[in-house]
Amino acid sequence: MPSPIVNFNTLSFSYGSIEVLKNASFEVGSGEYIGIIGPNGGGKTTALKLMLGFLTPLRGTVKVLGKDPSFVRTQMGYVPQINAYDKEFPISVLEVVLSGSLSKLSWFGTLPREEKKRAYSLLKEVGLEGFEERPFGSLSGGQAQKAMIARALMCDPKILLLDEPTANVDPQSEEAIFKYLSSLKGKKTLLIVTHNFDAIIHNVDRVLCFQHKVSSILPRDVCEHFAIGMYHPTGENPHG
Ligand SMILES: Nc1ncnc2c1ncn2[C@@H]1O[C@H](COP(=O)(O)OP(=O)(O)OP(=O)(O)O)[C@@H](O)[C@H]1O
Ligand SMILES: [Mg+2]
Repeated sequence: MPSPIVNFNTLSFSYGSIEVLKNASFEVGSGEYIGIIGPNGGGKTTALKLMLGFLTPLRGTVKVLGKDPSFVRTQMGYVPQINAYDKEFPISVLEVVLSGSLSKLSWFGTLPREEKKRAYSLLKEVGLEGFEERPFGSLSGGQAQKAMIARALMCDPKILLLDEPTANVDPQSEEAIFKYLSSLKGKKTLLIVTHNFDAIIHNVDRVLCFQHKVSSILPRDVCEHFAIGMYHPTGENPHG
């Protein structure tokens, strides 16, 4: 059996006295499309940061592509959870996308020409053709998320981690974003955190529910309570 792309083994993590994950174990296989759900504070963002090697487990292990996450970070694209960003920050949409390939920056601070071509082509793919020179701060929430997805794809990652990519986005843009992400299905391993359960349930291969522990659920077995955003207290059978 091929080694898993992501492996959490009896992992516990706390921020000081705040215990976030307790004995969490799960695996993600190559090319899987995973929806990550769970209540506020359930540990979803923390889990992504552990996968990226930004945080270190207190106990247990996290492996990505069989290795310590910090060794394989260039194989991961990350779209962070955006709550607010500085609207006045003077950076163009193209520059934001190009900042996804900083590892290719030369000693003189220039990027290879192909990177710029790739940025244009990714912006077109996500539906932002013609927005290249616009200030990033002038974009709507949905457009900004699309630019951040293009940025995460610049390094042609094997794994794409998205933390609520459609938060504060109107339903039409949300549909466009999920449609685009579905088009990557099979080509990338995708892990998408979302509170909009209905938007992903028909496309994902599996759902991971984070509630300090992690339950892995097949879409067909998902309890209807999840669909309306209600989570069972920890310890109860999520299939109930
Ligand atoms: N840097 C931090 N320092 C201290 N506590 C933190 C920190 N980051 C997160 N926490 C706490 O850890 C818990 C898990 O947070 P996390 O951001 O992983 O939750 P989440 O599942 O992503 O929630 P949401 O759905 O609201 O985004 C929460 O109780 C949160 O307050
Ligand atoms: Mg979060």
